[in-house]
Amino acid sequence: MKGVFLTLEGLDGSGKSTQARLLARFLEERGLKVRLTREPGGGIEVRSLLRGDLSPEAEYLLFSADRAEHVRKVILPALEEGAFVVSDRYLDSSLAYQGYGRGLPLPWLEEVAERVTLGLRPHLTFLLDLPPEEALRRIGKRAKDRFEEEGLAFFRRVREGYLHLARLEPGRFVVLDATRSVGEVQGEIRTHLKALLP
Ligand SMILES: Nc1ncnc2c1ncn2[C@@H]1O[C@H](COP(=O)(O)OP(=O)(O)O)[C@@H](O)[C@H]1O
Ligand SMILES: [Mg+2]
Repeated sequence: MKGVFLTLEGLDGSGKSTQARLLARFLEERGLKVRLTREPGGGIEVRSLLRGDLSPEAEYLLFSADRAEHVRKVILPALEEGAFVVSDRYLDSSLAYQGYGRGLPLPWLEEVAERVTLGLRPHLTFLLDLPPEEALRRIGKRAKDRFEEEGLAFFRRVREGYLHLARLEPGRFVVLDATRSVGEVQGEIRTHLKALLP
């Protein structure tokens, strides 16, 4: 596999999409092949199914169906071509939201994920960390999705879950203080990326 797989993680409102776009542009300007993608919706558009009173298990399996297609049809082919793949969310989102947030057992999530992802893990994961109060304030004007309707306690569990995942894999995760300006966060992302650039 010749490419580099980068992911952005964090609560909604933490700045993932903003930073992913800037990162993709930065890499393209350096003449690198870039594939900017996202979950959910990178493989199968499952968002319309994630409505109503779904069990956490069904929720996880829908995200996993999307992820299985995303890995096979988008991420792996781009990596084979030597691209930098920048994904706005990936497996860590499920571990944080369905695991730490909804309370599904992590060993089951990981067992399913191993098969779903064919074992593919990012080279680097940028975790945009900020307090849930600030994340909710930023998305205040945006249409609320099923997670945004959850209470603060849910988002606190998700945030702590992400931080726990980062402590478990310090070599893969870069934890960024996402309360800083867009430019400062992007600067730190680029600094950490230097070692992976040709
Ligand atoms: N560092 C930042 N400081 C202040 N506002 C930000 C910052 N990064 C992003 N935003 C704003 O916060 C909102 C959510 O950003 P977005 O990139 O869509 O986050 P996400 O994709 O993680 O939900 C947007 O209105 C965006 O312009
Ligand atoms: Mg986004």
